[in-house]
Amino acid sequence: MTAEEKDALLEQYHPDYNLSSFAEIIVGPNKGEKAPKELVELLQAKSRVQGMTLDLAHPDYDVDVLVIGGGGSGASAAIEAHEAGANVMIVTKLRIGDANTMMAEGGIQAADKENDSPAQHYLDVMGGGHFANVPELVEKLVMDGPDCIKWLNDLGVLFDKDKDGNMITTHGGGTSRKRMHAAADYSGAEIMRVLRDEVQNRKIPVVDFTSAIEIIKDTEGKAAGAVLQNMETGEILIARAKCVIIATGGAGRLHYQGFPTSNHYGATADGLVLAYRAGARLLYQDTLQYHPTGVAFPSQIYGALVTEKVRSMGAQFVNVNGEAFMHPLETRDVAASGVIREVSRGNGVHTPLRDGIWLDSPMIDAIHGEGTLEKRLPGMLRMYLRYDIDMRKVPIVIYPTLHYQNGGVRVSVNGMSDVENLYVAGEAAGGVHGRNRLMGNSLLDVIVFGRNAGQEAGKQFKNVTLSDLTLEHVDNFEKECEAAGIHTDEVSPKILPDYRRKK
Ligand code: FUM
Repeated sequence: MTAEEKDALLEQYHPDYNLSSFAEIIVGPNKGEKAPKELVELLQAKSRVQGMTLDLAHPDYDVDVLVIGGGGSGASAAIEAHEAGANVMIVTKLRIGDANTMMAEGGIQAADKENDSPAQHYLDVMGGGHFANVPELVEKLVMDGPDCIKWLNDLGVLFDKDKDGNMITTHGGGTSRKRMHAAADYSGAEIMRVLRDEVQNRKIPVVDFTSAIEIIKDTEGKAAGAVLQNMETGEILIARAKCVIIATGGAGRLHYQGFPTSNHYGATADGLVLAYRAGARLLYQDTLQYHPTGVAFPSQIYGALVTEKVRSMGAQFVNVNGEAFMHPLETRDVAASGVIREVSRGNGVHTPLRDGIWLDSPMIDAIHGEGTLEKRLPGMLRMYLRYDIDMRKVPIVIYPTLHYQNGGVRVSVNGMSDVENLYVAGEAAGGVHGRNRLMGNSLLDVIVFGRNAGQEAGKQFKNVTLSDLTLEHVDNFEKECEAAGIHTDEVSPKILPDYRRKK
């Protein structure tokens, strides 16, 4: 496809262009901009602390650095802040590792091969993001990439290597070099295993099953901690901190436009809500990633991820007429739009929940030799075998699934948001990926910017003296909502999705 053909395809079929599913934000720093309706509702909902009398002067926890979120970026941030000498604590609404990082499959990009360079990687990231990316953030991402792979490898991540010990790397959609490092097709689980071990080895306290429900500031406007709520007992706890790092991940569980999701159960945009009410601006909150290959069949795993690595190893998109209608490694937004177009033209394969497209997985062994799929994609193979589908022998049926929020809280290159001493890292931050992320740059983002936020907060806390703690900004935000005529029963952050049957 030419660039013009791609633009036309996106405009007609990509869900980001479905204007009826967006609404205008009418209060706060992004007033006047658009965001998915579900997110706008949460940004402008009632605070969970409304009506509570809280004793902010006597905190239950008093730390240098508070990390909110127990996924890859939270763990990386905590490790680096600890390394810098901070008294650091992680708080997570589920358990450490219950996060999108754990579910990442295909791999992590980094330009550490002889035929590659960070400059080459930079161009790929910018092109994939439609040149809307924040250049300084992209520079940091690609320049720190090789060191992050080394850091993970040294910590004990078992990356795929050849018999001489060299990293095996593959292509992803939109990459001009093979720079995807992987641990089979459970790369994120392998990385999270090692990060979690490191957090535990360092004896960094982890307060689990406890959700952050509001950022606390001090009377000078600096971030100064968080209001926490025990998920089981409902008990409210106060954490005071000289620096706060939000690492709460994405929003797939909001099921924008009714899409299924590949995301972890806790991906409910909490970090965006917390930061927004504290006064931080969002960036590209109106652009989402629909992974082209979610499971369309069998229904039991509808929306689960079929890693892009399946295509990077040779599988092609094929419609019901047996035509390979699109290059298998177009960037994700283009590929997802191509699949949606094909199905909407009536060229889909019929399945009980929705029509999809064939992904001809048997090509993998046909190209690379028998046993390749089993060795390089064992998780995929096992997932389908549970339903008596042998993807080595028969193609699978896919359709796009909600996978990633391209945008998030605006940060500078030191990871700080618009609120002093409030850092944001990983999927909760926006700007690195512009309006479309390439495969493998999320795991890299999580590690690069998680570590970065931890290192920066690990320096910053030493200069911080807190004045009295306050939640006045929350009251002010609510007054702004009232003045704007917003009347809602919705409370936020959402914390967990609600799958109960409604009337
Ligand atoms: O397809 C995948 O394995 C997903 C990778 C990613 O989102 O980076």
